[in-house]
Amino acid sequence: MDGNGRWAQRRRRPRMIGHRAGARAVNVCIDFCLRRGIGALTLFAFSSENWGRPEEEVGALMKLFLNALEREVDELHRRGVRVRFIGDRERFAPAIRDRMQAAEALTAANQALDLSIAASYGGRQDIARAARALAVEVAAGRLRPEDIDEAAVAAHVALADLPPPDLFIRTGGDHRVSNFLLWQLAYTELWFTETLWPDLDETLLQRALDDFAQRERRFGLTGEQVAQAGGAA
Ligand code: FPP
Repeated sequence: MDGNGRWAQRRRRPRMIGHRAGARAVNVCIDFCLRRGIGALTLFAFSSENWGRPEEEVGALMKLFLNALEREVDELHRRGVRVRFIGDRERFAPAIRDRMQAAEALTAANQALDLSIAASYGGRQDIARAARALAVEVAAGRLRPEDIDEAAVAAHVALADLPPPDLFIRTGGDHRVSNFLLWQLAYTELWFTETLWPDLDETLLQRALDDFAQRERRFGLTGEQVAQAGGAA
């Protein structure tokens, strides 16, 4: 969700105004997914590196998260959205952690949309944690090193219960993944736009979906193999 700061700067307003507008764009995105029957949405709200931003911006973002949790969760629940948080939540203040846990508990059985918020999240940290969890299993004698394969790692990274993402959208003009879901994005289609996150609207999201629909996903196979498999399906 990149471009909040620039959106505000272009209007000669403080960066926080951009983050507030960014929070409104989050709702646009969730509405779109619900209407289009998209089953899972993961939003990169705050990276493990974002803690290094000026103290004032981090503090204001924390307030924004807390307000959003207080304001939006009941409505998300009413609409059948399951909410969860991925990342290092120990770094958040207790009030935010409690709200995160309460939101997850309230919405756990919902099925209309699986909404994951990546907060204090880093893809490398995610993979390192999976490695640590597997090492613990080995040390306890419950797993042999030779049994550690892709499936074992996949079972220990975030969002292990969901299919890998089909489409990655980055707003704000930069063409990089920036430590987001590194393991999970291996075969994800990447889509980049100059549009700043607060300007996100349905037309833009539809353009991303239309482009995605034109892509040939080969997963390492040849185009002919993919065509044959499609014909057989
Ligand atoms: C990146 O833009 C955005 C962030 C670090 C914060 C994103 C947070 C929100 C959209 C707030 C609400 C979110 C939820 C899930 C409640 P940037 O500041 O790096 O923009 P810039 O590159 O233009 O400076």
